[in-house]
Amino acid sequence: MSAVQKRQQWKLIGLLNWTADYLDQKGFENSRLEAERLLAHSLHIQRIDLYVNFERPLIPDELAQFKSLLKRRLDHEPLQYIIGETEFFSLPIKVAPGVLIPRPETEVLVENALQIIKENFSQGKEINVLDVGTGSGNIAIAIAKNAVYARLTAVDISADALKIARQNAELNNVADKINFLQHDALGDWPLHFTNYFDLILSNPPYISDAEFENLPQEIREFEPRQALLGGKDGVDFYNNFCQILLKLLCTEGNALFEIGETMRDVLLKNFLNCGFSNMEMIQDLSGKNRVLKMQKGGGNE
Ligand SMILES: C[S@@+](CC[C@H](N)C(=O)[O-])C[C@H]1O[C@@H](n2cnc3c(N)ncnc32)[C@H](O)[C@@H]1O
Repeated sequence: MSAVQKRQQWKLIGLLNWTADYLDQKGFENSRLEAERLLAHSLHIQRIDLYVNFERPLIPDELAQFKSLLKRRLDHEPLQYIIGETEFFSLPIKVAPGVLIPRPETEVLVENALQIIKENFSQGKEINVLDVGTGSGNIAIAIAKNAVYARLTAVDISADALKIARQNAELNNVADKINFLQHDALGDWPLHFTNYFDLILSNPPYISDAEFENLPQEIREFEPRQALLGGKDGVDFYNNFCQILLKLLCTEGNALFEIGETMRDVLLKNFLNCGFSNMEMIQDLSGKNRVLKMQKGGGNE
């Protein structure tokens, strides 16, 4: 903002228009929507209220608070971290630095998990579901909300992620249905989990070293590497977890993994070699390979 602009009395609509134009000039996509969300968050009001009260002047404190948020966005911090919240499967999910921001593509995994539950479990039968690398808890919470008889275990290696995941479970009123555990999924598991889970879900870290270098600054510099990096080719987690998965699943139990769009062939081969059957590749809305479904001891190994 220039000195003249700083001295002028800003009204909501003027500040909104100026911010949207400025973000646009700086190359940010969806600049109008971003400006609306930043300003509404800064003033603790709904987006619609920006237009209802568009002639309202801002007091200096409000302007200072907004400027500090805008500066963070101009430094490429993700909007969701600045606002502290996002939406997943139409549910509010808190996020903060240290936890991955849930992506819309991951809803494909949830939809297919709910389909498996609907097709395989009669109403009233308790289902044990494991979410590996729960992050913000988005997957476990979406399942708990939509599958009444599901009992969930959600693990993550990161204490920061689990703290947020527990808050999200409270926020969405499903805390009593999810057992959160800080645990290295590639380490030893408690014995009582052997052959225990009917369904195992995971969106593990799967970015390859080469892909990481080409990610936008928003992701590369702000989202946790532990949530992103899957080794040189991105497939380390799947390969290292394969035998553990076999132990944790009950006979004929299903697993669903989110995968990188180019990993289809290598992962199909590896999971088949590991002893899984009934493999199915599921695409997202843009037609990209997104979720790999498999079964333990399903019959056509
Ligand atoms: C791609 S993020 C997915 C987060 C969330 N489930 C989602 O869909 O947005 C992967 C998560 O796996 C966790 N993670 C990475 N390695 C792990 C391990 N060895 N054991 C348990 N969790 C792990 C990370 O901390 C991160 O939260």
